[in-house]
This record gives sequence, C-alpha cells and structure tokens, in this order.
Amino acid sequence: MSDHRFGDVASVRDELKEVEYLADEGIASVVFLADRLQKPILVEGPAGTGKTQLAKSVAEMTGARLIRLQCYEGLDEAKALYEWNYKKQLLRIQAEKASDDGSTDWDQLHDDLFSDEFLMTRPLLEAIRAEDPVVLLIDEIDRVEVETEALLLEILSDYQVSIPELGTMEARQIPLVFLTSNNTRELSEALKRRCLFLHIDYPQMDREKEIVLTKVEGISENLADQVARIVRSIRQIELKKAPSVSETLDWARTLVLLGIESIDAEQARETLHILLKYQTDIEKAAKELAVEAR
Ligand SMILES: Nc1ncnc2c1ncn2[C@@H]1O[C@H](COP(=O)(O)OP(=O)(O)OP(=O)(O)O)[C@@H](O)[C@H]1O
Ligand SMILES: [Mg+2]
Repeated sequence: MSDHRFGDVASVRDELKEVEYLADEGIASVVFLADRLQKPILVEGPAGTGKTQLAKSVAEMTGARLIRLQCYEGLDEAKALYEWNYKKQLLRIQAEKASDDGSTDWDQLHDDLFSDEFLMTRPLLEAIRAEDPVVLLIDEIDRVEVETEALLLEILSDYQVSIPELGTMEARQIPLVFLTSNNTRELSEALKRRCLFLHIDYPQMDREKEIVLTKVEGISENLADQVARIVRSIRQIELKKAPSVSETLDWARTLVLLGIESIDAEQARETLHILLKYQTDIEKAAKELAVEAR
C-alpha cells in the first residue's frame, strides 16, 4: 500500500521546515510513525513549545484540512461529537401534526427525525465523516474531566463513532490525530495506551536560534544567536515560569523593532518583561544578566 503520507523521517523534517516548523529528530520520527502505524499522537510538554503549532503545520504540509476540538472543563458529547437538532425535529413534528389526516406513519417519522438531516456534527464526528484528508487536533485534552476522555476512546482506537439511532460510522480515511496536554492532570491509562507519546520540551539552543531566524523578519544571525543564548541561560535559573518559544519570538521581534543589533545587559534588562511574566522572575533574571555581563 502506498497511501503513506511520508517517505521517511528525514522528509517529514524537511517538509515541516518548508512550512516553517523546525522539528528535531524526535518530533519528526513520531510524526512519521503515527502515519505508518495509524495511531494518534499525544503531545505533552510545557506551554508555548509548539505543541498546537505542530498539528497545524502538519496539516499545512500535507494539504489537509485542520479540524480542531478545543477542550475545556464541561465539554460534553453534544459539543465534541454530535447533537440532534431538536428545534428542527420539533418543527417537523408540528408540521406533521398540522397536516395529519390519519395517514401519518409515526414509525417512519421517527426514523426520519433521527436521520442525517437532523444531525449536527461536531469536530470529532466531522473528522470521522470527512471525505477529504484531515488532521484532527484535540487541543488541551487535560482540561476535560477524566470521564469525558471516554468519549474519545472509540475514535482513537477504531476511527469510528457509534450513534445509537444511526449505527456505527467508520472513518472514510484515517485522519492524523494530535492530542495536546499541558499535563495539568494525569490522563487515563486507556487514553495513553491508544496513542504514541511525544514530549516536546524547550528546544536546544541551535534549534531555537533557527526558529527565531525563520519566524522573525529582519533579524540578523548575530542577534538571533544572542537571543537564543540569553534565553537558554535564563531558563537555567529557578523561575516561576520559564520563557516559552512564543515569548522568545516576541522578545526577538521587540528587539528588532527597537533597532537593536546586538544586545547589552542594559537593553536585555529593560525588555525582560516581554520574556517573563512574574516580577520576581524578572528581578532574578536581571540579577543573573548583570553577573554574566561582568
Ligand atoms: N519548532 C517550532 N518551529 C517553529 N515555530 C515554533 C516551534 N515551536 C514553537 N513555535 C512557535 O511558538 C508559538 C507557540 O507555539 P504553540 O502555540 O504551538 O505552543 P503550545 O505548546 O501549544 O503552547 P500551549 O501549551 O500554551 O498551548 C507558535 O506560534 C509557533 O510559531
Ligand atoms: Mg497549544
């Protein structure tokens, strides 16, 4: 069968780079395997390290439609899978009653009411029913209650959804599925078992520099290098919240806007609030920079 999306791990990495996502070997190989093994990927790691972006970039690079389910506390079946359009069903019943001359077949009407016409598909079902290639992103899965995870199990292992009134709907094509988690709670074993696991940590200095060079317009090699170096040293300090890749990018853009070619300790300190979001962290980092500059 040649319906694989990717030839090898290296081509995943190269193609991701073309859509401006810089993946390391670990990321590229899990994406490659997920396609070959037809398994979902559970992506976990600190905030702002490119978990959500990975799914978006894979969709872009494969020319697939991205279907996203944003998870939150209280998310239920009706918002995740499907819902019957009660209003429309009710109108249909009323219309039937109004015109009833004794010939209405109520069994038939019941079947009609629970047919496609009255079904409202939500992201999970939409991904299963899609005819075109899709990437399904189930974002921040750790925000739903553990009981809600059960809604996903059938989809994640069998790529199908059972609807009591309609029967089982099987996927027309196997979508690539990404689940992301910030690890605010432990996920169920049942869910983890169905997925390949990918931990995305803060990037190595070289990769972060490359990300900055790719994403920040007008930045010099030298400044990107400095940014990556300083961010790395700041991440080594014990902080409440270490700077994420998105904050590195914001900081780099700020420096470019300020016309800075090469950062000195003073300029770094004055712009630390872009990188860090707690006053105590800013103070600690400023002290560290002062020591380094000596
Ligand atoms: N490897 C990478 N290549 C290119 N850009 C990246 C990479 N990693 C992160 N980014 C950039 O960092 C930003 C933040 O990434 P993203 O939103 O995917 O983080 P996240 O891990 O989903 O964070 P959160 O846990 O807060 O949702 C993105 O806008 C993306 O441009
Ligand atoms: Mg995210």
